[in-house]
Amino acid sequence: MQEQLAADRTRALERIAAAASVAELEALESEVGGPDSPIARARRGLRDVAPEERPALGRLINEALTAVADALEERRGALAAVEQEARLAAETLDLTLPGRAPARGAAHLVMQVWEEITDIFVALGYTVADGPEVETAFYNFDALNTPEAHPSRLESDTLYVAYGDDPEGVLLRTQTSPVQARYMEEHDPPVYIVSPGRVFRRDATDATHTPVFHQMEGLAVDGAITFGDLKGTLAHFAREFFGPRQRVRFIPHFFPFTEPSAELLVPCFVCEGSGCRTCGTTGWIEMLGCGVVDPNVLEAVGYDPAAVSGFAFGVGIDRLAMIRYGVPELRLFFDPDLRVLEQYR
Ligand code: DAH
Repeated sequence: MQEQLAADRTRALERIAAAASVAELEALESEVGGPDSPIARARRGLRDVAPEERPALGRLINEALTAVADALEERRGALAAVEQEARLAAETLDLTLPGRAPARGAAHLVMQVWEEITDIFVALGYTVADGPEVETAFYNFDALNTPEAHPSRLESDTLYVAYGDDPEGVLLRTQTSPVQARYMEEHDPPVYIVSPGRVFRRDATDATHTPVFHQMEGLAVDGAITFGDLKGTLAHFAREFFGPRQRVRFIPHFFPFTEPSAELLVPCFVCEGSGCRTCGTTGWIEMLGCGVVDPNVLEAVGYDPAAVSGFAFGVGIDRLAMIRYGVPELRLFFDPDLRVLEQYR
């Protein structure tokens, strides 16, 4: 009886030690420690044992049961720890791997200049006004003192989008100047605005022409504005943009909506003033158009030309970017080639 018990106990402990996983151990549990296990059966058999042998045998049985229970407990703990360790290792996230950074973009050069020149005027107290890109012939031409027969109104120069019943026509604005009239209609003087935006002309693409380009309009109307205010303001603009030593030159010109009108010139960025193909041998290139607002324009929006006066200007944003950065071709600004775009950072 005792030998059998010792063998059962050894066998149970061996099987427990051999269990390779918590699941295997659980499958084993009732076989080695449950009510039907050999040791539990031996306890039930105690009643058939001679009374004087019972206490000793009973103690051995209890020790065996306790040993089995302890072994199960200990083995379960060890196996669970190993399994936990394995699962943690399998589920590890390696946070030290470098991520995949998204490619960093940059504002287009034209947009950078757009914002920079807007800021120059905002710093002088100007506000930013906006107007539609699809415009009526009235605002694009008539309100700006441009006669019916002016060549810029021809279909060969202007992109009309509709005629319909509108005798004037609806068009893609050829300049930002219509914002002048729209703004003055809605606001009383004094007016100090700039209006950057996209404009459209029926031009074939070449080195200096694209059908879409960008302008910034400026308008100042107040009590007694003179051509001197125009010169001072625009020379300041040129020096803020190109640098404090920038030379500028005003020459007479013609625009329907200003009288007198002028062009502001800066030394050619290619030859630096000595004369070349880009500047047509003059050594100077046009930076913007400007002038004292024609009284007809003020009258058309209900202002009194005897009480207020003003100056206006229109500057090509793309052209400014070309001059400052020495970009040889306007159409490069519309080039999606990354070798071009990546230089804008
Ligand atoms: N709108 C003119 C153009 O597209 C530029 C211009 C010239 C605007 C003189 C003005 C101005 O406001 O006074 O060529």
